[in-house]
This record gives sequence, C-alpha cells and structure tokens, in this order.
Amino acid sequence: MADHGYDISDFRAIDPLFGTMNDFDKLIREANGLDIKIIMDFVPNHSSDEHEWFEKSVKRIDPYTDYYVWHDGKIVNGTRQPPNNWTSEMAHSSAWEWHSERKQYYYHQFTVKQPDLNYRNPKVVQEMKDILIFWMKKGVAGFRVDAISPLFEDEQLRDEPVTNKPDCPVPSDKCYKYPIYTRNLPETFDMVVQWRDVLKEYAAKTDNVSKVMMVESYESPPLVMKYYGNSTHDGACFPFNFQFIPNVTIDSNAHEYKALIDKWMDNLPEGRVANWVLGNHDRHRVGTRLGPERIDSLNMLIMTLPGVGVTYQGEEIGMEDGFVSWEDTQDPNALNAGEELYLNYTRDPERTPFHWDGTKNAGFSTANKTWLPVSEKYKETNVKLQSNGSIESHLEVYRQLIQLRVESSLKFGELETLVLNDNVLIVVRILKENKTIVSILNLGKNLENIKLNDIKSFPSKAILQINSVGANYKTGYVVTRDSVLPLKPYEGYVFLEFNN
Ligand code: NOJ
Repeated sequence: MADHGYDISDFRAIDPLFGTMNDFDKLIREANGLDIKIIMDFVPNHSSDEHEWFEKSVKRIDPYTDYYVWHDGKIVNGTRQPPNNWTSEMAHSSAWEWHSERKQYYYHQFTVKQPDLNYRNPKVVQEMKDILIFWMKKGVAGFRVDAISPLFEDEQLRDEPVTNKPDCPVPSDKCYKYPIYTRNLPETFDMVVQWRDVLKEYAAKTDNVSKVMMVESYESPPLVMKYYGNSTHDGACFPFNFQFIPNVTIDSNAHEYKALIDKWMDNLPEGRVANWVLGNHDRHRVGTRLGPERIDSLNMLIMTLPGVGVTYQGEEIGMEDGFVSWEDTQDPNALNAGEELYLNYTRDPERTPFHWDGTKNAGFSTANKTWLPVSEKYKETNVKLQSNGSIESHLEVYRQLIQLRVESSLKFGELETLVLNDNVLIVVRILKENKTIVSILNLGKNLENIKLNDIKSFPSKAILQINSVGANYKTGYVVTRDSVLPLKPYEGYVFLEFNN
C-alpha cells in the first residue's frame, strides 16, 4: 500500500488486505439485491512497481520492455540527469527515477512506487481495455477513472515552461510550471473515447445496460468539457466537476457560488449531463473546509442542481476531518513532504474511519487499532444517532433530498440561479406541467429576511419539503409569494410548488 490502493500490483485481483474475490462477488450480488450499483475505480495511468509488468520491464523481458516510460536521461557536465524538468507533485521532486537494474530513468507522475504506463504502446492500450471487460464481466456498473489528465506525455519529452509566479517557488508544486506536455494531451481525450466504446460494445453484446464512466480531472471549464467527447464521439459520461473544491473557501459568498454554477452550465456541451462534487478522499472534508454549519445547505445545493450530485462518504452525516499526528500519518503525499510540512499535504484527515455509531472505533472495526485514528467527534456525529427518527439530522435531510430527486422538475427542469444578496443563493428548477422546486440557502452568518416576491419564478403558493437541522420552519409549512421568510444564519429550505 504505497498509495492506499492506487498502486496496483494486479489489475485483476482483490488485495488480501481488503478480502478475496469471493467477497467481491458476494458484495456485487448483495448490492444488486438492494438495487445498489457498484462501480470500480479504474487506475489507468500507472501500476505499482511491484506489478509483474514492471518487474519484467525492468529486466527488458518482452513484451513488457516498453510497458512503461523509460529514458536514458541526459549527460550535463559529465553527470547523468533526468531528461527534462517534469516533476511529480506527490514525490515532491523530479518525476524521473533512476532504476539501477535497468540503468534507465522511469517516469512517475505520482510516487516512485507508481510508474506511469506507456500508452504509446498498443499492447498496454489493449491490456487496459481487457481489464475494463474483466470487471464488467464481474458485474460492475461502470468506472470512476483515476487521474485522467496525466495519461499521455509529450513524445519529444520537452521541458515545460516555468510560470515564474513569486508565490510559487517550489519546483514540484503544481503552480510552478505550465503542464502543457504532461497534462490533457489530445491522445488522452481520444483514449477516453476508446474506453467509452469498450463499455458501449460490452453492454450491446450482453445486458444492454449502459455502463457509467466518470473521469477524474481537476481542470476548469472549458478545457475539462473535452472529456465529455464531441458531437460525433462520446467520451466520459461526465468529468467530475470539482469547481466547488479549489474555488470556494469558508469566506466565499453567494455570488462566487453562482459564478461557478453558471460557468459549468454555460460551458456544458449540448445534451451532456452536469454534476456537482463537494468533496472526495483527496481534499479536506466539506465541514472542515466550508464550515460544519453549512452542511445541509450545501447538500441541498448539489442535490437540487441539475444532473448528478456526488457525495463522499461521511458528508451525508456532516463528518469533519479527523486529527492525524505525524506518527500516525499514512499518506505518501504527506510522508514525502516531511514532518515540518506534512500538514500542508496530508489527505489522512479526510480518510479517518467512518462513524457508524458511538461504540468502540465508531463501529468501524473491532480491531484494537484502526489504520488511521478514529476522529474524536464520532460520539456526536454518527449514523446511529442521526437515524433516530425523533431528532432532526443531516442524514435525514440527505435522505429527504434523495427522495425528492424523483420529481421530474429536478430530473429534467430548467435551472435558474439567483443571488439575493451576498449571502443568499437561490436555485429554481422549473418544468412545464410539473411543480417548481426552489432551494433558498443562507450561506452567511447573518439573519436574512427574504421577500419571496424577489424570486421572480417563486410559485404563488409553496410547501416546505426539507428544512436544515434546527431551522425555524419545518416540513409542511406553507408560504405564498407575498410571504417574508426569515432565514437564520446558514439555514436552508427546499420548497415545492403547492396547488390545492
Ligand atoms: C487520484 C486519487 O484520487 C488519489 O487518491 C491518488 O493518490 C492519485 N490519483 C494517484 O492514483
């Protein structure tokens, strides 16, 4: 586990740390029985250096000799150096590592234990397509494709231009160079189209059930939209929309949220589905980044915007980051940065065990020690407490949001976003002959009095469907367009048009 599962030594097996292939088969069967679909994380950019392909590639055993990106490097003043200035964010150094046995450098976008596969070798391309088919045969419903942007590198291995930003002096930091030769090459978009074809062909030959493909890329619109494909070729079903991760902070106001929503929707190609991500296992938890008091309003936001709402486990109960000391640190990104800087890079706090209940290890494990320490907050934030029907909870709000998503207005309705002042964001979903749905979200710390009349498309009468935890008004409260709605700090409401 050099990168907790992102360093794969056999693309067709389950690591014994997590169970067996029989466990996996059982998981699929039982999930399907509950109408839950399982998708796999497909990690195409690299393997582990412990993969048989790499071990054989090191020894130049064919056909594996060119399965990875190898280079002699260059001699400068009599000393051998990496071929160019490409760096690895996760190793915090050059992306080239000298291999003393093969006597060449290999390229690794992530840690030294994760050599990049060589997609200019057709055999590698075929291997990875076969792996997609292997897991579809196992019954997975599709794939989250890891780290798509760095899939291909410039064939001529040209140096990348330096940004010269005064606030970015560390050569391995993302902002140090313009990544024009290691990110989002035209060949990468083409490979995504090829994979989607594999998924489509498989479905056509078997159960006719479309398989989902979502790709992980942190690029902004319009560039990221290229991962959807074009008018003649489908790419991914969607590239994750991470705009709410690096671009909002605890101080962001309603205008900034609206600008990000509009930017995605304005750039979205015709006929493609939008998506909204608040958090993932690589970024601090939503509660920690944006404030625990905003959990319900932010979940209301992503679940009432058009398209897919993506939730990282724990965000539905409002988990915050756990504290992980240097001694307990597991993340290579943090370990490689060293004790002084590890807190700037660590992803462990958002990965601490899930809080099921208030018992030992939050009900996550019966072991004496868990792989990362359980956050101290588990006693007050856990599923069991939040499933007690007699109290309002984030989990209950989240469940209500999921139930509301069957409404056609949320599935197919037009979107209007509105900012009433710096703090209040409004999302309206309108579909002819269906009930209008309006989310009213106070993202700020002040009491706001909302004249519903200011929301032009607010229905003449509406019933409160979902309220944030502790809100003044509760489900079932009826308002008319001339009502004034007082909104406490961070409060959120979702209203449904009401015709009686
Ligand atoms: C993105 C994954 O989300 C992250 O956890 C991992 O470290 C890198 N890709 C490398 O696979």
